[in-house]
Amino acid sequence: MKLNQRLKSLIVAVAALAIPMTALAAPAPIVIKFSHVVANETPKGQAANYFKKLAEERTKGRVKIEVYPNSQLFKDKEEMEALQMGSVQMLAPSLAKFAPLGLKEFELFDLPFIFDDYADLHKVTQGPVGAKLLKKLETRGLIGLGYWDNGFKVMSANKPLRNPADMRGQKMRIQSSKVLDSQMRSVGAIPQVLAFSEVYQALQTGVVDGTENPPSNLYTQKMHEVQKYVTISNHGYLGYAVLVNKKFWMGLPADIRAALESAMKDATNYANSVAKKDNDLAMAGVKKSGKSQIITLTAQEKAAWRKAMDKTHQDNMGRIGADTVKEVYSATGYKP
Ligand code: LMR
Repeated sequence: MKLNQRLKSLIVAVAALAIPMTALAAPAPIVIKFSHVVANETPKGQAANYFKKLAEERTKGRVKIEVYPNSQLFKDKEEMEALQMGSVQMLAPSLAKFAPLGLKEFELFDLPFIFDDYADLHKVTQGPVGAKLLKKLETRGLIGLGYWDNGFKVMSANKPLRNPADMRGQKMRIQSSKVLDSQMRSVGAIPQVLAFSEVYQALQTGVVDGTENPPSNLYTQKMHEVQKYVTISNHGYLGYAVLVNKKFWMGLPADIRAALESAMKDATNYANSVAKKDNDLAMAGVKKSGKSQIITLTAQEKAAWRKAMDKTHQDNMGRIGADTVKEVYSATGYKP
């Protein structure tokens, strides 16, 4: 045999040996695409990455979690549709973005001043009202795996917002929630719904005058660099529910689903343990940057904001459901 022929037969022999090797190789992992719109450094971004780590470890590589932050894969509105259609398997949208699913009750979380602090919030997210709302998702082909905290919102603009009257005529970007629309109108502002990915540019170019968001979102999107003033108003809450497509989730092998549920439980505890600290750090970052002036309200000024926005509750009772709102009031002790 010539050298060339020998080489050829050797290659054929090696290839034949390789076939049983491929047959023995592990099956392709189950891929879960987890899409979200915020930065990796936010409470949601960190919790998504922590979930990925735990889920891949606990399923010993049988599941691969692909996290797509910063609206890389889908923007706000598209991501809900993508989840229902199965082009993405996991999301953690803000509770202010659930009405397009026909679940207006979730907008209760947008009511101004409804929670004094995280302890108040947890009475709802970790109590019967929270569980009742998650259950409703099943009627939409979704499963709610838990609530992830973010934080209490600041108000930003290019003019100082110290009194509710300062809001008059300001074009304010909001999330797609009718309760937030009504909250902005209660103080004479002009609400404008925009996708999160568009906010920085809209502020920079003057399409809107200002916005509201927890400090972690404001800071990581550099919104404070294009806003002259940030008021620590803590007038409302922004947080999330983690959602999966029900058909996909129930179709997973039981041992895999159990491992993912345990990873989700720990990621949820993680999210809720870092949220406050992350927001405090983000606020410190905004201050340190010197790019915008921070306005801290006196107790009297804060009371004026609360009084001015209070009608939002009454105006949206019917939309959210009076029984649900009253259940929240009795859980938290809120007095209109
Ligand atoms: C927003 O649109 O402002 C927020 O819902 C973004 C987020 O996911 O925190």
